[in-house]
Amino acid sequence: MTILVTGGLGFIGSHTAIELIESGHEVIILDNLINSKLEVLDKLFEITGKRPIFYQIDVTQQAALEEVFQSHRFDGAIHFAGLKAVGESVAKPLEYYYNNLVSTMVLSKLCLKYGVNKFVFSSSATVYGDQISPMREDMPLQRTTNPYGETKAMSERILMDTASVNPDFSVCLLRYFNPVGAHDSGLIGEDPNGIPNNLMPFVTKVAKKELDTLSVFGDDYDTIDGSGVRDYIHVVDLARGHLAAIEKMGPGVSIYNLGTGRGTSVLELVEAFTRVNNVVVPYEVVARRDGDIATSYADPTKAEEELGWSAQKDIEDMVGDAWRFEQQNK
Ligand SMILES: NC(=O)c1ccc[n+]([C@@H]2O[C@H](COP(=O)([O-])OP(=O)(O)OC[C@H]3O[C@@H](n4cnc5c(N)ncnc54)[C@H](O)[C@@H]3O)[C@@H](O)[C@H]2O)c1
Repeated sequence: MTILVTGGLGFIGSHTAIELIESGHEVIILDNLINSKLEVLDKLFEITGKRPIFYQIDVTQQAALEEVFQSHRFDGAIHFAGLKAVGESVAKPLEYYYNNLVSTMVLSKLCLKYGVNKFVFSSSATVYGDQISPMREDMPLQRTTNPYGETKAMSERILMDTASVNPDFSVCLLRYFNPVGAHDSGLIGEDPNGIPNNLMPFVTKVAKKELDTLSVFGDDYDTIDGSGVRDYIHVVDLARGHLAAIEKMGPGVSIYNLGTGRGTSVLELVEAFTRVNNVVVPYEVVARRDGDIATSYADPTKAEEELGWSAQKDIEDMVGDAWRFEQQNK
């Protein structure tokens, strides 16, 4: 298949591009580089021996995007492009609503116009809100606590409504839990522009002494050690979930959790990082962050039953690969 990958130079998109290329698919990448670097294209070539066609385009720009649709015939689109920092979304709601919603609408509109009938969307476990884990796809969604989360819930709604009146248009909503880790080549990984927002790049920066201490937000949650519990998933497993989705998705709308089904606390993750990599990560416990919940992990059964996909890598793989990438690349 020929697959359009928006946000394909970012963390999850680049790992997914590798899995698609290695399975024989043709990949065309769009990215505006707001949170990624052009060098990732060279890394993709180094890893796969193929250099995907790349367009530096903002997906909200319909005219520029339409030129790409006129130049290629796509069998499917995977839409990773989006802004993802929860805290920043509270400070800049309009930027988040504009970028994340307009990109989804423009891309789906052009997919309909050009008969691209498979659309895979990067959603998030945040749409479940503060419900009792394990999270299941048939749980009612709750209002999320920040504009970023709302853009995911609204994008899901927009795509479901669009699919309901366009029977040939299939939509697969993938709700990610907490992607971490890096490709085992050490060539690509999570490399955000600016100060990291997610836990793992923060841990690696502290381990490398680029930042002084890791802030652990709260140690009084009702969890195994008081710190927040999340379902960390290796980015290569997550990428393989997209491959399974684009190859096996059925008609209409399908929704899958992509998680391991296991919860790990922040302090357990720091302990695993220290043990596996033999490096100290100084941390301090600070106040809880607004909007954070105690525990979130997936029930991944549906993806296993319907896509034949399940996560294979464990927390040791995740912390080891993340550290290898950090050491090799900065
Ligand atoms: N990483 C996570 O923890 C996580 C969890 C759940 C969902 N998601 C979602 O998965 C997707 C990919 O996340 P990621 O971690 O790879 O993030 P990322 O920031 O590394 O990748 C996103 C890419 O999209 C690009 N981009 C953003 N807006 C664009 C636009 N308008 N036009 C073109 N390119 C644009 C960025 O430059 C970046 O390369 C995002 O939609 C994100 O919200 C991520």
